[in-house]
Amino acid sequence: MRYIKIFDTTLRDGEQSPGCSMNLSEKIEMAKQLEKLGVNIIEAGFAIASPMDFKSVQAIAAAVNTCTVASLARCTKGDIDAAWDAVKEANHPRIHVFLATSDIHMEYKLRMTREEVLASISEMVGYAKSKCPDIEFSAEDASRSDPAFLAKCYTAAVAAGATTLNVPDTVGYSTPQEMADLITYLRANVIDIDQVDISVHCHDDLGLAVANSLACIQAGAVQVECTVNGIGERAGNASLEEVVMALKTRGDFYGAQTQINTRQIYKSSKLLSNITGALISPSKAIVGANAFAHESGIHQHGVIANAQTYEIMKSTDVGIPQNTMVLGKHSGKHALREKLVSMGYELADGELDDVFARFKALADKKKTITGSDIEALILNRRHTGIDSCQLISHVINAGDGMPNTSCVKIKRDNKILQEVAIGSGPLDASFKAINQMLGIRVSLDSFSLNAVTDGEDAIGEAVVKISDGTGNSYTGTGLSTDIIESSIRAYVNGINKMIEATA
Ligand code: KIV
Ligand code: ZN
Repeated sequence: MRYIKIFDTTLRDGEQSPGCSMNLSEKIEMAKQLEKLGVNIIEAGFAIASPMDFKSVQAIAAAVNTCTVASLARCTKGDIDAAWDAVKEANHPRIHVFLATSDIHMEYKLRMTREEVLASISEMVGYAKSKCPDIEFSAEDASRSDPAFLAKCYTAAVAAGATTLNVPDTVGYSTPQEMADLITYLRANVIDIDQVDISVHCHDDLGLAVANSLACIQAGAVQVECTVNGIGERAGNASLEEVVMALKTRGDFYGAQTQINTRQIYKSSKLLSNITGALISPSKAIVGANAFAHESGIHQHGVIANAQTYEIMKSTDVGIPQNTMVLGKHSGKHALREKLVSMGYELADGELDDVFARFKALADKKKTITGSDIEALILNRRHTGIDSCQLISHVINAGDGMPNTSCVKIKRDNKILQEVAIGSGPLDASFKAINQMLGIRVSLDSFSLNAVTDGEDAIGEAVVKISDGTGNSYTGTGLSTDIIESSIRAYVNGINKMIEATA
């Protein structure tokens, strides 16, 4: 079996996608989960992009132990200095230097000649190497570059000290055969390429990112760059869970394996979706709600007779919790702990007490508590404790043909605030009341509501995107069996993030 490294760029390329921005504590939480998942390299961000990006890369470098932590840098000394300053305290730091090599990018974006690009690669990869032993070089838009020139660029990068050569299909234009041919060509034409790792980075504009990545592995790539849930620029990057499960399920065909703990896939996917508010399509491979559901009678009959008739993977292999042990209002802390352990959550005593209190409150509203309910409780924990605003209570008076009013009570930094407002609906009235009591101007950019558990008493998850008028937007999520409450919680959660970012 060949060994394939997983380079996760959820926190860099993924975070660049609209609506997927994360704050510092969310990035650290996600990075820790990526470490549990077993990725080899975490691309933590683009350190020069903003002081906040720098801070996040630095914090992730300090927070993780076993993974390599990379920061992206253009071919400039300023970028490389910032990248190094941000990752240098990591146990395994990496600088990821990139420069475009396609004619269209060089002429219109960089306004550089081929000679200038080559010289810049030699100089800047060498400069990065003088700081850090682990250097990755990416030729942006490699798949649309002249292959002979591309080979010269990679040769220059290896000569200057690059230890990984990354081949991006930046605009998601290539087909699997073309990507495989390009890897084969580079292996034959880049001097000393056998001394370094070949990596691939595919975007999904034509829905081919995973197929292209797998084709490159067959042609000799040993590192795949990907993101959880496939988030990323435009149509996204290659999805980590799809690449990993394709290699695992079809080990017979690819003869390759990763060090990913696949049982952590589902948790990683859920955590990211909860942080960003980006919902996962039900039919998404591996982590979609329907990925392991059998609807038709013929399929159900086959699966009951022998699961392998229609199942090529086990849902437990990707860590999907089984809804077998159902809890209720008489269940004790011990039963809850056992359920949590079976779902892969090991909580410290204090955390368990907190989840247990929430569990009891939920059990008063819901007859039976399933694995999905408990998972929702765990994800919801993320939104409490350090928040400056906490929802205490709300009273709604709503109906057709009458003014909708809402009275909301919030605790802000130990002070109780209360306000009543009229709106076009119960949510409009509640959001107005909150804005008035906090004296802030917030615009609501989008709102969605989704049942995250089953049944009439399902838990509803609300996701709001709000902005502060200066181009910054924040995602808030909230959970409750009462959809008005989950919506108000989501709004307050978004405002807490806004307050934290501007503090
Ligand atoms: O898509 C791309 O080309 C990139 C590079 C910076 C690796 O994200
Ligand atoms: Zn990219």
